[in-house]
Amino acid sequence: MAWKTLDEVDLDGKVVLVRVDINVPVENGKVTDATRIEKIVPTVQDIMSKGGKPVLLAHFGRPKGQVVPEMSLEPLVPALEKAFGFPVKFAKDCVGGPAKEAVGALQKGEVLLLENTRFHAGEEKNDPMLAAEMGALGEVYVNDAFSAAHRAHASTEGIAKILPAAAGRLMEAELKALEAALGDPERPVTAVVGGAKVSTKLDLLGNLVAKVDHLIIGGGMANTFLVAQGIDVGKSLAERDMADTAKEIMEKAKDAGCKIHLPVDVVVAREFKAGAENETVANDACPADAMILDAGPKSVEEITKVFENSRTLIWNGPLGAFEIAPFDAATNAAAAKAAELTREEKLISVAGGGDTVAALNKADAAKDFSYISTAGGAFLEWMEGKVLPGVAALDQQS
Ligand code: 3PG
Ligand code: MG
Repeated sequence: MAWKTLDEVDLDGKVVLVRVDINVPVENGKVTDATRIEKIVPTVQDIMSKGGKPVLLAHFGRPKGQVVPEMSLEPLVPALEKAFGFPVKFAKDCVGGPAKEAVGALQKGEVLLLENTRFHAGEEKNDPMLAAEMGALGEVYVNDAFSAAHRAHASTEGIAKILPAAAGRLMEAELKALEAALGDPERPVTAVVGGAKVSTKLDLLGNLVAKVDHLIIGGGMANTFLVAQGIDVGKSLAERDMADTAKEIMEKAKDAGCKIHLPVDVVVAREFKAGAENETVANDACPADAMILDAGPKSVEEITKVFENSRTLIWNGPLGAFEIAPFDAATNAAAAKAAELTREEKLISVAGGGDTVAALNKADAAKDFSYISTAGGAFLEWMEGKVLPGVAALDQQS
């Protein structure tokens, strides 16, 4: 990858268009999780300290090319000002008169936020006209939105070909962390993949078995793999029609020298609710009227041993029904072990995906991981081995 960093472009006195991902959760007009805002602070402050004037391009929600007032970015201005420590101006459109006037009036020491790029249909269509109009507002383009880089949109892809382009600090950190985890990792490498369905993570599993030494499968998708081995999982969530696919993945893993770990024991219950009466049984002993809701203690012991013998860990998806105790036990225990080994500098641990970060936060383990990605869909596509268009576009510059 030959993308430039903020250190390699001249920003002094320049209007710098910065694509950020501030698609944050908002309730009653208040930001409930400001992580994505906090993560772009170094980029914005760096640009300012290098004499540049940051103009932020961003989307919010999915307005599908229409002006949807509820999806305006304007209510985020106070949260941005608080995070940046600088005044943030706002323009009611990301192109045209309002944008041009606001850019013209922008002073050093101020940040400008432009209205939701997705209010224009050309954004998601990656319309070159819209990219050109946005590009004409500034002199340098910086992409700091790894979590939107799986979208080939005008503000993430098209515009990068128009202006001198660079990766922002967050984009740089994401790309470096992900490269260290899967590109050129310290071995052995272990991946934990959990979640409900094999069908949504087929490409991901296919790519991982070719790259990692151990693949730990948890959550509902582990049940599908058990079914593939002829095991009756009772009323458990499982994609029975995906059993052949699961078999193919196991074959591919065998050929590639990747060891797949499935739960050896499971926690079963008759109701999907917090505190439901439960028991722990061998993985082939789920009663016909019960469902598997978590991996059992023997499985956790095996996972712990794999972690202890690994140098790199990449995690996506919970091991059980982590939202409802006590079925969060395996996820919590495995997360705590990964956190401990990372603190002791024995393990490089990287995690991403919305549910995953929620589960690791709940286990109070996320803070100790080497790197937690801000990305959901982009993290998954990257784990699938796909080239993200927003990243590739940064690369096309000489
Ligand atoms: C996200 O929240 O995952 C990113 O901002 C991308 O949003 P999108 O899935 O609507 O493209
Ligand atoms: Mg998304």
